[in-house]
Amino acid sequence: MKQEELKALVGRAALAHVVRGELVGVGTGSTVNHFIDALAGIKGDIRGAVSSSVKSTERLQAHGIAVFDAQDVQSLPVYIDGADEIDGRGFMIKGGGAALTREKIVADLAARFVCIADDSKKVPVLGAFPLPVEVIAMAAAQVSRRFAALGGSATLRAGVLTDNGNPILDVRGLSITDPLAMETEVNQWPGVVTVGIFARHKASLCLLATAQGVQTLVF
Ligand code: A5P
Repeated sequence: MKQEELKALVGRAALAHVVRGELVGVGTGSTVNHFIDALAGIKGDIRGAVSSSVKSTERLQAHGIAVFDAQDVQSLPVYIDGADEIDGRGFMIKGGGAALTREKIVADLAARFVCIADDSKKVPVLGAFPLPVEVIAMAAAQVSRRFAALGGSATLRAGVLTDNGNPILDVRGLSITDPLAMETEVNQWPGVVTVGIFARHKASLCLLATAQGVQTLVF
């Protein structure tokens, strides 16, 4: 099966985790786009969605799915999103699509995080995928120097600003053996808006699409 077919497969499989009669948290990316398209088929059975990006909001609304402001929602039963990498403990790197801050905000509202991914995203140790970090522009050089001290090489993502109007650093060369510790450390650095390590907001389970079908990994 091609990667796009695996993404479509797992996007449909995620419907089983949508709580009928409730709101669902919706992530961002090419895998989530398949989930949104599948969600349209059961839109009459849910109250609506809380979205993590302008792009996902536009796709949800194009399907006639009501999108609620995160500010007006106290909790969600489930948040469904992709990942750039996921390890054997459910820790993830996210932000390849620049939506990491809003993704973490919506994930924080949710009781469960269901990660949907094809099997190319499963890794033993996080860090081969460049770590995205949303920063206040004024802090980009200093944050880059801090990553260099940890052995990482940070570059500004050219021509990209997030939905919040901030630049993204992509950090190469890190081997993230302790995601919780690194997320906690980077969160302390002035000017960091969001680091794309999802350890405090790790996956509760992962639906992993493989050529043999969808595997469920519970963390
Ligand atoms: C968006 O900023 C990201 O966190 C995505 O969730 C992640 O990049 C996965 O995207 P794909 O499903 O397109 O691989």
